Amino acid sequence: MGARGFFITLEGADGCGKSTQVALLEAALVARGCEVVRLREPGGTPLSERVRGLLLDPANAEMVPECELLLYEASRAQLTRQVIEPALARGAVVLCDRYYDSTYAYQAGGRGLDEALVRRANELGSCGRVPDRTLVLDLDPATAFARATAGGADRMEAEGLAFQERVRAAYLRLAAEEPERVRVVDASGEKDEVAARLLAACADLWDLWG
Ligand code: TMP
Repeated sequence: MGARGFFITLEGADGCGKSTQVALLEAALVARGCEVVRLREPGGTPLSERVRGLLLDPANAEMVPECELLLYEASRAQLTRQVIEPALARGAVVLCDRYYDSTYAYQAGGRGLDEALVRRANELGSCGRVPDRTLVLDLDPATAFARATAGGADRMEAEGLAFQERVRAAYLRLAAEEPERVRVVDASGEKDEVAARLLAACADLWDLWG
C-alpha cells in the first residue's frame, strides 16, 4: 500500500462527529500500513493555526464575510503548500478535517456569498489541489447543532441553527453535483457503525492501493 498519496477530506455541519471519525479513519489506515498525515482546517501549520484563532474567536464579531472568506483561503494556501503537497508527494495518505468544500458550504451556502466567487477563491486557496475523496457526514441539523454548542459556541456556531441548515443543504448540493468525489455518509448511530460506513465509502480507493 501507499504507492501513491491520497487526499481524503471529511466534511459536515458543526456537531456531526467529524473529529471523532477522522481519528478512527486514521487508526484504520495506520493498521493497513499507510503513512497518515491527519490535519484540520483551518489550521495545521503555525501560521494557519493563528488564522484559525482569528476566525473562531467570538470577540471578532465585526468580521465581514469577504474578510472571513479570505482568511479561510489564506490558512488553506499555507497548509496546502507547506504540508499537504509534500505529504502527497512522498506517498502519504492525507486526512483533512475540512477543506474547501467547507468554504462552499459555509461562505456560499451559510453566508450567501456569490457561489462563483467562492469557487474562484477556493481554486486560489487550495493552490489547485482537489481531494481524491470527500466524505460528508450527514446528521439531523438540530441534533448536530445541540451537540456542537453544548459547551458554548464559537464565532461560526453563534450564527445559529438556520445557518447550519443552509450549510447542510449546500453539502447535499455538492454531493449531487460531484457524485464521484463527494459521498454523503449517514452520521447517525454508534461511532463504530459510522466509521464502517466511511471506510466502505472509500472502498474503491482501498482497491487502488491494493
Ligand atoms: P471545526 O470546528 O470543524 O474545526 O471548524 C471550524 C469552523 O470553521 C466550523 O464552524 C466551520 C467553519 N469553516 C468555514 O466556515 N469555512 C471554511 O472554509 C472552513 C475550513 C471552516
